Amino acid sequence: SELVARFPLTPNPAPASDPEYDAVMAHLSFGVAFSDHMVRARWTRDEGWQAHRTAPFGPLTLSPAAAVFHYGQEIFEGLKAYRHDDGSVWTFRPGFNAARFNASARRLALPELPEEDFVASLAALAAVDQRWVPGVEGSSLYLRPFMIATEAFLGVRSAHELEYLLIASPVGPYFVNGFQPVSIWVAQDFHRVGPGGMGAAKTGGNYAASLLPQQEAYDKGFEQVCFLDAATNTHLEELGGMNVFVVDADGTVRTPALTGTILEGGTRAAILQLLRDAGRTVREETIELAPLLEQIASGQVAEMFACGTAAVITPIGRLAGEGFDVTVADCAPGSVTTELYTTLTDIQYGRRADPHDWMYRL
Ligand code: COI
Repeated sequence: SELVARFPLTPNPAPASDPEYDAVMAHLSFGVAFSDHMVRARWTRDEGWQAHRTAPFGPLTLSPAAAVFHYGQEIFEGLKAYRHDDGSVWTFRPGFNAARFNASARRLALPELPEEDFVASLAALAAVDQRWVPGVEGSSLYLRPFMIATEAFLGVRSAHELEYLLIASPVGPYFVNGFQPVSIWVAQDFHRVGPGGMGAAKTGGNYAASLLPQQEAYDKGFEQVCFLDAATNTHLEELGGMNVFVVDADGTVRTPALTGTILEGGTRAAILQLLRDAGRTVREETIELAPLLEQIASGQVAEMFACGTAAVITPIGRLAGEGFDVTVADCAPGSVTTELYTTLTDIQYGRRADPHDWMYRL
């Protein structure tokens, strides 16, 4: 199609057929294997975007002085390509991710990528790597667009040369146990971001900041970390790679408001819409930790869950931190969480009507 042609396939060298293909597709985990191609384009301050192409997946040649290695000028996105029963391949709200990519670009002083090029890159990769879109329940081809500062220069300023790339990874569930409650450690001594920082941008540095607390949580036996706001250390922000929701026993659903220190998740936005469609009361507001713990203990809070493109919707079964440790919803997936998971994945896999035109055929 016209979109696919924006990133013409470089014919040589053709990727050798991956000897691991059958093994990879038979045992899908998250983010360990990659499809045959990648899409790329270059940007220079003088000439803008150029050299749009689809090339074999493979190592990049970059100067060791490339700014991304030193100052972390980098942004990324995450989407999935889903195979429907009739064999067609679809993605979810690519315009949302294109807009968020450009919002991240602005925060990192990177140039914006035209939305049509962002979407065209997804279409180009899905077209050439169709066989990497799995057809098994719960699986997909995870699409990872990113932009990096490639200019070889050690001065601290926004780079004059960079690359946009898109790679893809056939994936199964993000958590090995699938739709089972995860345990969360609430970090009180580390923060992911602060006011005025990059928290609303999808940039590697935010994830780097989460790694040490994440590792400490693992060592304590927890699966994920929940971060509190840096200004007051009292209210919930997000899990670093996922947004967080609270379901009250009266059916009200709450999630932290977008304050500039939280990433606006595409799954978060879709969930808010689905809840409103179902006539539920939803509130984007400050969620204080101390009252939340009491509400969990008293049964006033019925369910909690985390959400993101990679992990979809994941029940939270336990919330602990320095001085507290509570079980949520008897550590079983709650009914609102389960219903949302079913509705959202039914739309994504083409099993139910798509009332908001979220699905986009690649
Ligand atoms: C997502 O795609 O859901 C992410 O936020 C990235 C990461 C947690 C795998």
